[in-house]
Amino acid sequence: KRVLVLNGPNLGRLGSREPEKYGSATLADVAAECEKLGAEFGFDVELRQTDDEAELVGWLHEAADGRIPVVLNPAAFTHYSYSLRDAIAQRTAPLIEIHLTNPATREEFRHTSVVAGVATGTIAGFGLDSYRLALRALVNLDS
Ligand code: DQA
Repeated sequence: KRVLVLNGPNLGRLGSREPEKYGSATLADVAAECEKLGAEFGFDVELRQTDDEAELVGWLHEAADGRIPVVLNPAAFTHYSYSLRDAIAQRTAPLIEIHLTNPATREEFRHTSVVAGVATGTIAGFGLDSYRLALRALVNLDS
């Protein structure tokens, strides 16, 4: 069963990007970990990252059309992208919003998620474990 792990802007720079906040793992490390854990759950995991809102919207359409479950770290798009929200609203399979950090403990502008209201659920604040916990949650969700 396919699972898409989609990542928004600046997440391609994990490892060197503000490591005190986002940790030392690179996006390649995250991909390897998601593929490994996903395989244990019987998932065929594909991780993608883009800085481009249009590309991310396109991937969400692909997931909606294929009824593919999604783990999504929308990064900064979380806080303002209504086009992302509208794309997510079209899906029928589960979509789990995740964040490495806990945005609720950070700057005011990060306290709003325009994605949360159309996600199946949200996991935030556990670093790389946020990805692992989301894959685990998908095991028990119908799609
Ligand atoms: C993030 C939190 C967002 O506020 C931020 O813009 C990111 C990463 C996280 O994973 O903690 O780029 O989504």
